[in-house]
This record gives sequence, structure tokens and C-alpha cells, in this order.
Amino acid sequence: MYNSKIAGIGFYVPENVVTNDDLAEYMDTTDEWIQERTGIKERRFAKKHEESTTSMAVEASKIAIERAGIQKEDIDFIVFATLSPDYYFPGCGVLLQRELGIQKTEIGALDIRNQCSGFIYGLSVADQFIKTGMYKNILLVGAEKHSMGLDFTTEGRGVAVIFGDGAGAVVLQPTDDNDKGVLTTKLHSDGSKAEELALISPGAHGGYFHEDKEEKFGFDVTNTKLGDIFITQKMLDNKFHTPYMNGQAVFKKAVQKFPEVILEALDEVGLKSTDIDLLVPHQANLRISQFVQRMAGLNDEQVFNNIQKYGNTTAASIPIALCEAWEQGKVKEGDLIVLAAFGSGFTWGSALIRW
Ligand code: ACO
Repeated sequence: MYNSKIAGIGFYVPENVVTNDDLAEYMDTTDEWIQERTGIKERRFAKKHEESTTSMAVEASKIAIERAGIQKEDIDFIVFATLSPDYYFPGCGVLLQRELGIQKTEIGALDIRNQCSGFIYGLSVADQFIKTGMYKNILLVGAEKHSMGLDFTTEGRGVAVIFGDGAGAVVLQPTDDNDKGVLTTKLHSDGSKAEELALISPGAHGGYFHEDKEEKFGFDVTNTKLGDIFITQKMLDNKFHTPYMNGQAVFKKAVQKFPEVILEALDEVGLKSTDIDLLVPHQANLRISQFVQRMAGLNDEQVFNNIQKYGNTTAASIPIALCEAWEQGKVKEGDLIVLAAFGSGFTWGSALIRW
């Protein structure tokens, strides 16, 4: 069995910086409120019609491929994690293949739908393929274009201020050295809270039933005709096409599951939190990361945060943060790097990497 190592890493964020004050022009919010609750100062928004989730992924991928010292034609599998795909279907994996100009190689492309945990889930899947020797150069990407799908009115302010656009990519390759690369990955979910952080429409379910919230989330059975159940006017009026988040429920579960899944991974390989050189948590919210830092007994140098500049970029946040940490010299040969994420589903996971 091989281990998977990150042979190349890259990220891309759009040029357009959107500050908290910029958002305050659209909704009733303040820079102070956003910074105090989330740590976010600014985020990037893609050019509305010129940049897409895939186009940002292409830019990040080109850097990762170059840094891996390979040609794009050497990529033998694509794994693409996003919750904001260009199309409802097909997924972004095939679009990335096409936009990279490697469709002639006819490699497989897999899309991962695990939201904030998407990169860790994708890493775990890719790791299994590398371990068995099936693939030798997997391109794993997390990319998001949230700016097209948020409610920028005061009604949507609890969610809209949190998210940003961007992409991160890695090239995974096998190594014979079993002490290097991905040491373990841990994946979990709890579907009982699926609708606490969700975007319901468009969907083939036609709305969803919730005992306590029937009025807001109940099915629209009136005035629908065959074919328009996918997204109805009532769903649009109820803003089912923008994300719903029960922020406090997410916060409570996240601060419990982040430390748990980090310790689970460390336990498995016989390491302790004192062995961690750098924790790169999913950039959900600075308050969550600070809480996790305290629970794991880590100092400021052991935790990397860049949510202040980019907001929460969901599946892209870990590869963007990991790449920025690496570019700043904070990820060195032999370091123990811990990745951890929690998000919609709920799903959560962790990965230990010996760099
Ligand atoms: N600006 C100003 N006021 C706001 C804003 C805003 N952007 N958003 C909400 N408010 C108001 C609310 O309307 C409410 O007003 P009211 O008391 O008059 O009704 C008040 O602030 C408090 O609202 P809460 O939702 O209770 O605010 P809370 O203290 O829970 O903070 C937050 C909200 C920041 C989302 C918090 O719950 C949180 O951090 N949750 C974790 C969720 C998270 O990080 N999600 C990230 C995505 S998921 C992931 O990546 C894991």
C-alpha cells in the first residue's frame, strides 16, 4: 500500500474585495457585528458572469499542477468538492476536465457533495485510490461561488455576511514512505439535522417537511402543475433557493465535533495534540476555530486562520488556507498537519498529514 502525498497545491480568489461596510449598503448590518461574531473583515466575490466555480477551480488547479511538476495530461482522476456547482447537473468535475483541456484523456471525474467537509471527504476518497495504486496523479479541488446564491437583504444577513468565493486545489501522488503524506482520515455524519443548514430548492423533493416548522418549510401542494414542483413560486417567495442556517445549532455541534474528530485521528496513529505543528481548520467562523484551539490546547502559532480575509469559502476553505500557510512557510517538511471540518449535513471529518 502507498501513502498519498500532496505533491502540488494552489489557490485562487477573485480580485474583487467586498468589505463588511460594502455589505452594509445592502442590508442592516455593521462591520462591528460581523467581526465580533465571525472574525470576518472582508471576502472576495467573483465577477458575476465572467467567473464561475469551475473557472476559479481551473486557476487553482493550474498552480497545483505546475507545483507538482507534472503536465495536466498526467492527471488520471479528478475529485471536485462544491456546494455551488455551475449547473444542477452535470457536476463541476467534467467541466474542470474540459476547461483544463484534458478531455481527450477521458479520465474519471467525481463530484463530492459534502459542503464544508467536502475537501476532507474528497481527500479521503482520493487517498483510497492512491493507496491501492489505482491512480498516480489525482487532482482534488474545492471551489465555491457563493456570491450568486445568497440573500443580500436584511432577511438574509445572518447567512450572507459569512460566505465568500474562491478555489483551492491539490495534486495527490503515491509515496512509498509510509511515515509521510496522509496518515489517516476520519469521516462522520448525522443526518438528523440535515435541514438546519441547507438549501432546499431546486430539489426533486419539492420542499421538505419539518414537524415544528411546517408553515415555513411545508410542501407547496397548491397551484402546482406537473413539472414545476422542482422550484415553485411559493418556494421562491419563501427564499428556499437561498441557504437556511440555524446558526446557534451549527455552532454548538461544530465546537463539539471539531475537537472530537481531531482527537479520534490523533488517537488512531498514536499521537497527541502536542504533536500538532499546524491545525488548518475549515474556516467556518473565527469564534469556532478559537474555541477548537482552546479545547485542543493549541497556541496561536499552531492554528492557521485566514477567514478574516476570505470569509467562509466552504469546500474551498481548507485548501486555500493550507496553500496560504504553505506559501508563508508555516508548513514544512516533516510537519504534522491536521485538517478538520464540520458543516451542513451535518458532516464532519479530519485528516492527518505528515508533510
Ligand atoms: N448583522 C446584524 N445583525 C444580525 C446579523 C448581521 N449580519 N445577522 C443576524 N443579526 C441579528 C439577528 O437578526 C438577531 O436579531 P434579534 O435579536 O433582533 O432577533 C441577532 O442578530 C442575533 O441573531 P442570532 O442568529 O441569534 O446571532 P448569533 O449570536 O447566533 O450569531 C452567527 C449568528 C454568527 C451565525 C452564529 O450563530 C454562529 O457563528 N453560528 C455558527 C454558524 C457558522 O459559523 N456557520 C458557518 C457556516 S457552517 C460551517 O461552515 C460550519
